[in-house]
Order: sequence, then structure tokens, then C-alpha cells
Amino acid sequence: MERNYRRINIFFTSLVILFSVLLFLSINKISSKELYENMDKEISVNRETRESFAAPIPSLSLSKMRLFTGGRHLFRRSWTPAPSSVESLDGLGPVFNRVSCSGCHVKDGRGRPPKADGKFRSMVIKLSLLNNNKIYPDPNYGYQLNDKSILGVPFEGKAKIEYSLIDIKLADGTIKKLSEPYITFNSLSFGKFHDDTEFSGRVAPVVFGLGLLEAISDEDILKKADPDDIDNDGISGRVHYILDAPSKENMIGKFGWKATRATLLHHITGAASQDMGLTSNIFPKTNCTKIQKSCLEQINGGQPEISDAQIERLLVYMQTLAPPRQRNKDENNILEGRGLFKKIGCENCHTSSYKTGVHPQHPELSHRIIKPYSDFLLHDMGEGLDDGVNEDSAKSYEWKTPPLWGIGLVKTVNKHTRFLHDGRAKSIEEAILWHGGEGKKAKDNYISLNQKNRKKILDFLNSL
Ligand code: HEC
Ligand code: HEC
Repeated sequence: MERNYRRINIFFTSLVILFSVLLFLSINKISSKELYENMDKEISVNRETRESFAAPIPSLSLSKMRLFTGGRHLFRRSWTPAPSSVESLDGLGPVFNRVSCSGCHVKDGRGRPPKADGKFRSMVIKLSLLNNNKIYPDPNYGYQLNDKSILGVPFEGKAKIEYSLIDIKLADGTIKKLSEPYITFNSLSFGKFHDDTEFSGRVAPVVFGLGLLEAISDEDILKKADPDDIDNDGISGRVHYILDAPSKENMIGKFGWKATRATLLHHITGAASQDMGLTSNIFPKTNCTKIQKSCLEQINGGQPEISDAQIERLLVYMQTLAPPRQRNKDENNILEGRGLFKKIGCENCHTSSYKTGVHPQHPELSHRIIKPYSDFLLHDMGEGLDDGVNEDSAKSYEWKTPPLWGIGLVKTVNKHTRFLHDGRAKSIEEAILWHGGEGKKAKDNYISLNQKNRKKILDFLNSL
């Protein structure tokens, strides 16, 4: 009798355990499926217009909406030289690249290299030189060429980009042409560059979804890093640790083409200084080098030129612009393209999904499912993408995996399809064909696909 009881007991206990395990597995399956299927609707938008990148996250509260619209106003406003009638909006320059943030980040989207007229509208040239393994600015021109200036002050100089064509043959015999940029300069106001100065073109990236990226936890990024390639898959992404200027702490860089900024506050104040010549409490010095006498002598637009309250509004704006949701994601060719993207190794760097951690200022951005398609790590991308400029500890051939969300909407929003850090790629496909170094294996896999399957991958990318 006792024995029978025990048997029945064991039987039922096993049944309960089995049932719990099945339940656990099915819940897990649902959640990992969700992670793939949906970006949280509270923080993303579904629009296919020129304003696709310009919407606030739907869950933004009314009080923050006020800061958001204030920030949008400042992002689009043209700044003027000091002194001017609107004191709070003067202080531009003396040397600068553009009079407004949105001049480069057009419609909160991305910039491009000059058109046929050669004018730099939404792209800058970074400068640096390496000496004894340390990075220095060019002595006369600094870290960035400012090609414009206020009246009475010379601009630094003008750049020109020319391209040479390179043939690349795909496995099915198709020949594609890639354009390799070559930068030259004219009208340099302060003489020649230092002999060792190197140049790198940088287009303005999209600026939506950035608060959500701030909220990704360090653990989630560190999980993907493999600096010594211990798993031996040919990919050795590494974290770019950055001294964050506002907090003076060492943090994981996430923003910029080389992940040179860890926080948006650092990026925004840096942009105000480098791109527009606006001083802030974080960067109080004007951006003139020693030799630029008349630049140094100009009156300023207040100390600082951009106030903490203005920075706060810009910050909320940058943190709460919503990423667009994927379109037509259940169509067969797009599902198949998504499968191929994973299969040939693109996802090894372009990590699709995250659940955000805690955003200290915006609980709306915490614990959300997002799909940026990036690991935020630096990768050696080979000689073809090495243009000589080192930044912080990032080498000239190392680039951060850029997020791919919204990439299919760039054409609608910005009326162009120029990709990669300097916009050299004239299509998404050309961007893929430039991958080298750690990205070479995935590129070679792409090259060996037939035309139908290549198109599926491109259709998938265009749906993001
Ligand atoms: C002259 C063009 C230009 C202007 C003006 C400009 N930016 Fe940028 N912005 C860029 C470029 C180029 C980058 C990429 C820099 C890099 O990584 O080397 C960038 C990057 C950024 C990023 C990081 C985005 C990311 O995901 O990596 C933010 C945020 C940003 N800018 C905000 C601003 C704000 C705010 C202003 C106005 C105060 C501004 N920018 C003005 C060209 C510009
Ligand atoms: C080793 C990591 C790695 C792998 C693997 C990889 N990428 Fe990239 N990808 C990058 C980096 C880094 C860049 C930026 C390079 C630059 O701007 O010079 C980039 C840029 C891109 C861009 C342009 C994005 C933009 O905003 O300009 C596209 C599109 C892209 N990758 C798609 C793919 C596809 C498709 C695959 C698979 C065939 C792939 N990538 C595999 C790291 C990787």
C-alpha cells in the first residue's frame, strides 16, 4: 500500500515538473519570437513619408512634449553671429560648418557627400595625426576643417572629393562598380596641413532612436564583444571605452561612426562646438586654433553661447525621436531575405534585437524591445575602408557597426541613397560590397549568392 502511494506520488511530481518545463519553454519561445517580431509600439512609429524620422515616441508625456518641441525648434533654428537682436540664438562661429543642426541632419535623417556643385552641405572632414602612438589635431586646423566663417574672419579652407572607379566581380559574373573617394583641398587660409595630417570624410548619421540606444545596458554590449576572437569566427568586435566629458567617467562609446561618444549630452555639446562654433558649459573654449588670430579676437555670444536650458531641450529632442517600424515584414521575400541575412553572417555584427535597460531620465525608454541591428562594437573593416584618421583609441581601419533601422526609408526622407561613413556607397548593395577585414567573410558570402537571393537581402534591408 505504502509503496503504491509512493509510486503515485512520484508519478504526479514528475508530471508537474514536466508540465512546468513545457510551460517555461513555451513562454521563452514566445518571448524570443516577440523579440524578433515586434518593436515595442509605444516607442516606435509607422510612417512612410518625408517625416518618417521626425516623430516623438508615442508614449511621451505632455510635459516632455513641451521640451521636445522646444528642442525641435532649436535643432532647426539658424544661429547667427554675435551680437545679434536675438541674444539667446547668437554666437555662431567664428568658424563653423553649418548654421543649424538640421542643416546636416536633414529631416532628422542622414547627410550625403557634395552633389555636382561640390558644396559640403551635410558632411564634414575630420583631421588628425599620429605621433608616437598618440593622436593630435592638425596644429593650424584642429580636428575638423571648418569651411565657413562669419564676416571678417577667414574660413579655414575648402575640400573637394573625387572618385576613382573599382570593378568588383560577383560569383555569377555580374560586374559592379565601386567609387573610391579621394579628398583634396584648396583655399587653405593658414598654409599647408602638417605633413602627417590625415583626412576622413563623415556624413551626418540619422538621429532617431538615440535615447533607446543610450538605454541599452553595458552587459548586453559586453556580451557580444570578443576582442581576441576566442570563438574563432573571424569577428573580434571590441568595446570603445570613452572618457565622457560631461560626467568625467569612463564609459562605453555608442554614438558616432567610431563610437567616440558614450552619452548624447557629450555628443550634442561637442557638435555645437565643432560643427557650429557654439560654446557651452561643457566645452567653454571657442574652436579657433592658435594661429587663427582674428577668429580668437571676435566677441562671443555670451558665456556660454548655448545655455544649459537650451542643451536640455536639444537633449530631450535627441533622446525621444522615435525609430520607424519595419514595413511589410511578413512578405515572403522579406522573410527569406531576413533568413539569408542571418545565414550568411550579417547578424554577427548587425545584432537585430535588444531589450533596453533603465534610462535614468526617461522611464518611457526603459525595458523596451528595440531592433537597431548593431552590436555597437568596433570592427577592423579592412584596407578599403581605412582612411587614415584615428580617433580616441579607435584605429583608422576600425568602425562601429552602424544601426540599420530605418535604412530603407533614407530614400524617402533624404532623397538619396548614399551610405557608409563618408557616403561613398551609392546604394545599400555598394555598402555591402565595401565590407572587408572582419566583414569580408559575410561580403564573400553575399557575392556568392545568385541574383534572386541578393535581391531578397536588399528587399529585407529596404523594409527596415
Ligand atoms: C556640419 C554638419 C553637422 C552639424 C551642423 C551637426 N552635426 Fe551632428 N553629426 C554630424 C556628423 C558628420 C556626425 C558623425 C560624426 C562622426 O561620427 O564622426 C554627427 C553625429 C551626431 C550625433 C550622433 C549620432 C549617432 O548615432 O552616432 C548626434 C546626436 C548629433 N550629431 C547631434 C547634433 C546636434 C544636436 C547638432 C546641433 C547642435 C548637430 N549634430 C549639428 C554632422 C553635423
Ligand atoms: C564584422 C562586422 C560586420 C559584418 C559581419 C557585417 N557588417 Fe555591415 N557594417 C559594419 C560596419 C563596421 C559598417 C560601417 C563601415 C563604414 O561606414 O565604413 C557597416 C555598414 C553597413 C551598411 C551601411 C550602413 C550605413 O548606415 O551606412 C550596410 C547596409 C551593411 N553594413 C549591411 C551589411 C550586410 C547586408 C551584411 C552581411 C552581408 C553585413 N553588413 C555584415 C560591420 C559589419
